[in-house]
Amino acid sequence: MRTVILDTDPGTDDALALMMALNSPDLRVEGVTTVGGNASLTDTTDNAIRLVEYLDEERGAIPVAVGADRPVHGSFTHAYHVHGAGGLGVRLPAPTLKPHAMSAVEFICDRALQAVQPLTVIALGPLTNVAAALGSRPDLVDALAEVVVMGGAFEAPGNITPHAEFNIHEDPEAANAVFASGVLVTVVGLDVTRQTSMHRRDGPRWFEGESRSAELGNRILADRFQERADLQEFYLHDPLAVAATIDPDILTSRPAQVSVVTEGDERGRTVARYGGGTVKVAVDVDVERAVGIVRSLISDSQT
Ligand code: BDR
Ligand code: CA
Repeated sequence: MRTVILDTDPGTDDALALMMALNSPDLRVEGVTTVGGNASLTDTTDNAIRLVEYLDEERGAIPVAVGADRPVHGSFTHAYHVHGAGGLGVRLPAPTLKPHAMSAVEFICDRALQAVQPLTVIALGPLTNVAAALGSRPDLVDALAEVVVMGGAFEAPGNITPHAEFNIHEDPEAANAVFASGVLVTVVGLDVTRQTSMHRRDGPRWFEGESRSAELGNRILADRFQERADLQEFYLHDPLAVAATIDPDILTSRPAQVSVVTEGDERGRTVARYGGGTVKVAVDVDVERAVGIVRSLISDSQT
C-alpha cells in the first residue's frame, strides 16, 4: 500500500487517473492538489472537487488543495480543444465541498514531512506545484518516496510542439527544478503513454459495471469521441502514471539525468543522459498489463 498525493489538472485523462487511484486497494490517496494546465486553475480545481465528491464514498475524506494558476514564467496555454468545455467535457453535479485551507505547496510539504510512511506524489500536470514545494523545503527531497511524473517525450515526437510534451512545455523551468532536485523521479512520457489507449471501436462500454467510475469513465470517453470525429484513440497518459505507481514492473525504465530545453524552438524538450542519475525514464511498457490495470480499476469499483 502506497500513500499518494495526486497533483493534477483535470482534464479528461486526469479524471480517469483519479478514479483509478481512488479505487485501487494498493493506493491510499492522502489528497489531491490542483494546478492550471489543461484548463484554468479555477476550472481544474472545480473539476477536481466535483470528481472527488462524485466518486469518493466517504464524502469529504479526500482534501483538494489549490495550487498554481501560472507557471514560473508566463502563463499556461490550456487545452480545452482536447479536453472539452470546462476542461472535462461532461458536467458533474455542483459540489458542496470546499478546497482545503492549505495551498497545494503547503499541503504537499505538510503531508510529506509528517508522513509515517514516505509519500509518493503522482504529478499529472505541469510541475509548478511540485517544484515550488521542493524549493520551499529542501528536506522534502529525502522525505518523499518518489515523484511519478506524466510528462516528456524522449525518443517520441511531442504533442504540443514537434519536440515537447504538453505538461513539460507548460512549465519547463519547474520541470528542470524537479529533475535536478535529487528527488527520485519516474518519468512516464509519450514514448510509453502513446502505446496505451482506448479505441473508439471498443465503445461505448470501455469500462464494465454500474459503478459511478465505470459510468463516468464511459461518459467521458463517449463525449470525447463524439466531439472529435477525427479521434480514433484516447491515450491513457495520466492513467498510465497511476498504473505504473501501482505496478512499476509494467515499465522498462533506464536511469538517467534529465534536463529540459528552455530556449528557442525546442523549449520544453526533455533530454535524457542515460547511465545513472535520480530519474528513471520509462522507455517501454507492457501494454496489455497496463491497459488491463486501467480497465479493471475503473470497471470494478462499487462506489
Ligand atoms: C498530458 O497533457 C495533458 O493534456 C494530459 O492530461 C496529460 O497529463 C499529456 O501530454
Ligand atoms: Ca494531466
